[in-house]
Amino acid sequence: MPHEWDARGYDALPLPHEQWGLRTLSRLALAGGETVLDVGCGTGRDTAALLDRLPHGRVIAVDGSAAMLDQLQARLAGRTDRLEIVHADLTRPLRLPGPAGLVDAVFSVAAFHWIPDHGALFDNLAAVLAPGGQLVFECGGHGNIANVIRAIDNLVDDVPDVWNFADVAGTDALLRAAGFVDTEVTLVADPAVFPDDDLLLRYLETVVLGAHLDRLPLDERAAFTRAVAERLPAPVVDYVRLTVRAVRGG
Ligand SMILES: C[S@@+](CC[C@H](N)C(=O)[O-])C[C@H]1O[C@@H](n2cnc3c(N)ncnc32)[C@H](O)[C@@H]1O
Repeated sequence: MPHEWDARGYDALPLPHEQWGLRTLSRLALAGGETVLDVGCGTGRDTAALLDRLPHGRVIAVDGSAAMLDQLQARLAGRTDRLEIVHADLTRPLRLPGPAGLVDAVFSVAAFHWIPDHGALFDNLAAVLAPGGQLVFECGGHGNIANVIRAIDNLVDDVPDVWNFADVAGTDALLRAAGFVDTEVTLVADPAVFPDDDLLLRYLETVVLGAHLDRLPLDERAAFTRAVAERLPAPVVDYVRLTVRAVRGG
């Protein structure tokens, strides 16, 4: 299973993910009765919004973090009649609950850059998506958080390669190879500015550096986060988002 998250700390932060979620939702065409897969759903902010848009439909929420899914369950207590929650590793083929096995749309925010092999990921998503179904996602793309990566490089000799920040051409080719058509792939710069140091430190620790901090002894983690923050030229995380809309070919 992938890196475990501090789910309560995550939800306590002001997250640019909220805007990314709204933008991604706005690119999903829904009539209200579909079944939608929320992949890397985290604590369920967008899962809740999807349920609002699907009065006669269902959401299947998938994530690899038990802590994130516990937080999702708390958020959506009382709304589980049209919701299924699946604890699964996205680096493996998906096994969905229910008899039909195929969903009408796949949705994802800020998750796919954690998956090293996008070719295998798109194959796995195509296998559970009905022909004509939509794939709509966003994640970190080529050039994402370059200022943070420079700061980490400056501090550590053997920097673990934990992210896959893909480019437009490579993503488009992998989508088409997996059987997707009508592909729209873009990269959008979207820097996040932090008003104070405390917030920047909490954000880096909880959202950005988790997989790096996992490798350090507990008593060295706060100093590492501070050292990364001090090496940023400004209190900014310079996000670049890969946004995708595609249709499963029939
Ligand atoms: C930054 S959070 C985004 C969560 C949510 N979509 C949002 O926008 O707030 C990334 C999520 O991807 C999940 N994730 C990362 N790698 C994964 C993997 N290999 N399998 C399943 N989930 C994974 C994490 O557990 C986490 O919940």
